[in-house]
Amino acid sequence: MEMSDLPPIPLCEPNLNGREKQYMAEAVDSNWLSGGSFLRRFEQQLADYTGAAHVIGVSNGTSALQVALTLAGVEKGDLVLVPDLTFVATANAVKYLGADPIMIDIDANTWLMDLDLLQDFLESKTYQTSNGCFHRESNRRITAVVPVHLLGNVCDMDRLSSIGAEFSLNVVEDAACSLGSFRDGRHSGTAGLLGTMSFNSNKIITTAGGGAILTQNESLAKRARHLITQAKSHATEYIHDGLGYNFRLVNPLAAIGCAQMEQLQSFVQVKKEIAVFYNQQFAECNVTFQQLTPCTESNYWHSAMLVTGSRALISALATENIETRPLWTPIHELPMFREDLYMSRENISTRVSQRGIMLPCSTSITQTQLQRVCEAVRRLLN
Ligand SMILES: Cc1ncc(COP(=O)(O)O)c(C=O)c1O
Repeated sequence: MEMSDLPPIPLCEPNLNGREKQYMAEAVDSNWLSGGSFLRRFEQQLADYTGAAHVIGVSNGTSALQVALTLAGVEKGDLVLVPDLTFVATANAVKYLGADPIMIDIDANTWLMDLDLLQDFLESKTYQTSNGCFHRESNRRITAVVPVHLLGNVCDMDRLSSIGAEFSLNVVEDAACSLGSFRDGRHSGTAGLLGTMSFNSNKIITTAGGGAILTQNESLAKRARHLITQAKSHATEYIHDGLGYNFRLVNPLAAIGCAQMEQLQSFVQVKKEIAVFYNQQFAECNVTFQQLTPCTESNYWHSAMLVTGSRALISALATENIETRPLWTPIHELPMFREDLYMSRENISTRVSQRGIMLPCSTSITQTQLQRVCEAVRRLLN
């Protein structure tokens, strides 16, 4: 058999082997589509699992960020601190509000925002007044910092919270990839003022498309619900007291989420086994894995590693029907962010991105498929 005739191994497929169909059919039969009992149940399941006092289902992780940043006080002309290596949505959400991101380079080992660099930047390049923190050079206000728990690895939220308090910045956690990740027993996305999640189809659980806003603050939760419902302020009349959005998660998709939540723990377990397997199999190879931060229990959402010649490896694996992908392009390299500030000492995000390869890690992957991936990677690296 030709290599190209081998059965495909997808990168990261959704796993819908629970009660997804049953719950979705029940949602359709109930005739409750926009809102309904599955939406309430899904939000409650997420709240129980994460320990967030309030969870609001929204249409996707990007809209969750947009609303969370609005509630964190980000306004037109402001600046917001984001890591340079993240999915583009983190920085896009800042731009949607008329603000601009300041990209902070990542740590070479954890691939998360470099907090020493963040602190240095704030100490040397900003000043504070009673109105908040301002960038010295441009006199623009810096309103928030958005740590991203990349691939399931959790940022040091204790340190970030104290940096936030010291410099009057609100912390919005982008926990799009980290449902199931804990640090010091606290779930990712629950330490900041607000946290956001994505249930896009490649995430650890999916609702096809969907997201959530998490907060411990009741009044922020109320305002979030209000904003995602077109800021409608009257039960029956069409009265809107602000500029709102139509960002609600719909009931049949929440029904899929309810079934997915029933399997979350087993998904985390399988993802961990996959990550451990890759680590063992490539122990003798010249590759580098992401280092977990201390006290992190990762959800191991996406296996990835750094290797010289990653693009050639990705292409060669594709000819064997094994799907892999590069890591994200650093935000500062994307055309719409090239004018924005980028703080870096050694341009680590570029080096990580250039060498990064995301490995197949569907929760339905078989042992035979995993072995085929490892055998191919080892052979191609030699
Ligand atoms: C880090 C990060 N932030 C935000 C998002 C946006 O989520 P969504 O695709 O649900 O809009 C994603 C994922 O897609 C992500 O990985």
